[in-house]
Amino acid sequence: MASRELLEKLNDAVARELQVSIQYMWQHILWRGVRGFAVQEELKKIAIAEMKHAEEIAERLAYLGGRPTTEPAPVFVGETLKEMIERDVKDEEAAIKLYKEIIELARKEGDITTARIFRRILEDEEKHHDFFKSLLEEI
Ligand SMILES: [Fe+2]
Ligand SMILES: [Fe+2]
Repeated sequence: MASRELLEKLNDAVARELQVSIQYMWQHILWRGVRGFAVQEELKKIAIAEMKHAEEIAERLAYLGGRPTTEPAPVFVGETLKEMIERDVKDEEAAIKLYKEIIELARKEGDITTARIFRRILEDEEKHHDFFKSLLEEI
């Protein structure tokens, strides 16, 4: 049986994945300037990846007996590309921190499947973080 703490963290993860999938999709739509043009396709791809994360985590949460939230965490779009990407870097950092906690906790509870799912997702978030971070150096 998964602990209440693990279920809550999984639901927090679902809310954040829903948030960033909307956030990156809107940033993809509202980009401005030449640099924005260069990153819009990547933002679109990452938005879709986040949606898949939301679904996969929600499936796991439901399997463990939880009820996945439909409420995203607060979405921030931003006005300039710099504003957008600064926020995206922070959101990826928050996801990386939370997912490391989830892996730790799942392992402690003997839930190796959840740990394995989050190790895979963590790899994606580190790639997103790397992308946004390098982008920020250019704007
Ligand atoms: Fe994600
Ligand atoms: Fe991400």
